Amino acid sequence: MAEKSKILIIGGTGYIGKFIVEASAKAGHPTFVLVRESTLSDPSKSSVIDSFKNSGVTLITGDLYDHESLVKAIKQVDVVISTVGQAQLADQVKIVAAIKEAGNIKRFLPSEFGNDADREHAVGLAKAAFATKAQVRRAIEAENIPYTYITSNCFAGYFLPTLAQAGVTAPPRDKVVSLGDGNAKVVFNDEHDIATYTIKTVDDPRTVNKSVYIKPPANIHSFNELVSLWEKKIDKTLEKIYLTEEQVLKNIEESPFPLNLIVALSHAIFVKGDQTNFEIEPSFGVEASELYPDVKYTTVDEYLSRFV
Ligand SMILES: NC(=O)c1ccc[n+]([C@@H]2O[C@H](COP(=O)([O-])OP(=O)(O)OC[C@H]3O[C@@H](n4cnc5c(N)ncnc54)[C@H](OP(=O)(O)O)[C@@H]3O)[C@@H](O)[C@H]2O)c1
Repeated sequence: MAEKSKILIIGGTGYIGKFIVEASAKAGHPTFVLVRESTLSDPSKSSVIDSFKNSGVTLITGDLYDHESLVKAIKQVDVVISTVGQAQLADQVKIVAAIKEAGNIKRFLPSEFGNDADREHAVGLAKAAFATKAQVRRAIEAENIPYTYITSNCFAGYFLPTLAQAGVTAPPRDKVVSLGDGNAKVVFNDEHDIATYTIKTVDDPRTVNKSVYIKPPANIHSFNELVSLWEKKIDKTLEKIYLTEEQVLKNIEESPFPLNLIVALSHAIFVKGDQTNFEIEPSFGVEASELYPDVKYTTVDEYLSRFV
């Protein structure tokens, strides 16, 4: 077995970043996290920082906006994974520049973790966010940096505890609102599994310069199928309200930020079916559960059982 790559995570204290750091350390990769000075002294971040330390993770003080700190951190590792959030997506070109200067990186995984930015039919701010992710892809490719793009589809924790309903804190037991006819196929993945698959790709020659789609068969459901799965679990039939695409587009236009972004992302996912409306061609992509059949992923059915 070749030695496990050293992995640097930029954005490791964020929502998906925490899972990726944990999975990297658990898989035995020497794991490094770039953390801002201000975060290290932020009491609200102390438990995540402590959990990193307890897992043997090395913290490196630095900032996306401090080029020297980025280059210094990158020189210590083999692989860089960015999990920065919405506000920093465009500035990932700074990571690209630092990787280019450092000259030692075997693989870069930019902050993707959603729909495929090159195959989307989004509107409004969702379209702009995908355009930004696509620009970062083009910057990576222009510099000939080996990459893997993780198309993780929906984070289960963002969608399943509410059955993708706005303004609720538990899956509804009376009525549900569907964006569109509810027939588009959508993929919901547990964040632990997203992180496990992501870390498996970094030393895998089959994933170099490819998109990795996390689409395990048991996690692909239309909204209507998701609702009937829930109805069976609670032994109740829910009232269903279907919004037309025109109504959804009007909601996007009339909503303030960040609701307009959230509804626009949901429009791309649930109305346009952007997670499943194309074939994965071997020229650009591979599917994670086919590559790693040994991973026992949490199914949507199992996940929903927690809320019964
Ligand atoms: N598929 C889905 O359902 C779904 C849902 C949500 C997000 N996403 C995607 O997942 C990716 C990550 O999003 P997220 O919501 O997990 O991110 P997030 O929680 O907003 O975390 C952002 C991370 O970036 C760090 N950061 C911010 N400014 C920085 C700087 N100047 N230098 C270094 N680090 C900095 C933050 O550090 P601090 O902790 O110090 O602030 C934090 O660790 C995005 O591409 C997003 O589009 C997908």
